[in-house]
Amino acid sequence: MRYPQYRPRRLRRNEPLRRLVQETDLSPRHLVYPLFVVPGNGIRREIPSLPGQFHLSVDKLPDVAREAKSLGILGVILFGIPSRKDPLGSEAYDPDGIIQRAIKELKNSVPDLVVITDVCLCEYTDHGHCGVLKGETVDNDATLELLARTAVSQARAGADVVAPSDMMDGRVGAIRRALDEEGFSDVSILSYAAKYCSAFYGPFREAADSAPKFGDRKSYQMDPPNWREALREVAMDIEEGADIVMVKPAMPYLDVIARVKEEFFYPVAAYQVSGEFAMIKAADRLGWVDGNRAMMECLIAIRRAGADFVLTYAALEVARILGGG
Ligand code: PBG
Repeated sequence: MRYPQYRPRRLRRNEPLRRLVQETDLSPRHLVYPLFVVPGNGIRREIPSLPGQFHLSVDKLPDVAREAKSLGILGVILFGIPSRKDPLGSEAYDPDGIIQRAIKELKNSVPDLVVITDVCLCEYTDHGHCGVLKGETVDNDATLELLARTAVSQARAGADVVAPSDMMDGRVGAIRRALDEEGFSDVSILSYAAKYCSAFYGPFREAADSAPKFGDRKSYQMDPPNWREALREVAMDIEEGADIVMVKPAMPYLDVIARVKEEFFYPVAAYQVSGEFAMIKAADRLGWVDGNRAMMECLIAIRRAGADFVLTYAALEVARILGGG
């Protein structure tokens, strides 16, 4: 491969040639769209920290779901903002809770859209931590039972995939056992296996009203400098029964995505989180980057690193740009 025999520019001469040798592709089927569900009726309110994203009441979900589906998007992931919060996050596993109602509505209206549910307590606890407190620390083992209950109640409402994002040790195993015992052996687990303690969750915590009231999540979410630990987390979740493993955030952790993809023969998901999305939107508004191009470039980078699919707030707009299907 030496100049002048080899001239890489030959294959970049025009669009069809470039397309012919394109190594990675991005299409709507690679995108999962996150939705924020709020109590009430007729609500579709823009989320200030996530431009173009909305708080939706249950009755407003079918329209969005139909639109996503018509654009070629295969799945949504649901986050609930409950009407009341308490120390044990009990609305998370209430059979008539916000998410349970959202799942039923979606399954009734758009049955073949994959419904993924976030399994965590932070949106439901009054202290904002992802588990039960014992003093000022999050009690791992006491939390497992509530997470399992949450997953089972979501499965009972019709969820296709449950996605634990709490980062308690042993939660995938606890959820798998509980699902199997209750007759939901067909429900898959998408584990947020390598979820880092990240500054990039800021806009989400505003949107979901889920910021911890004291302290931080460093005692349960992963420390950003570590990648080998991420592989241990992934191995452990697979052993416990995860069907799909996720790395989160995405862009700052492309190396982790690539390594997980290489080491394990399991589907890999990546979450382009709220801060990643919001930064691009903000820079676009300031006229500093072309937001659409930047978004496409980030998503293709996440795919190139090895993600089979990407959870992204940009799913709808990107699917529109890609022309659907
Ligand atoms: C719940 C959860 C969080 C996100 C997804 N699930 C917030 C957190 O861990 O604080 C973040 C998603 C995003 O920033 O887009 N634990």
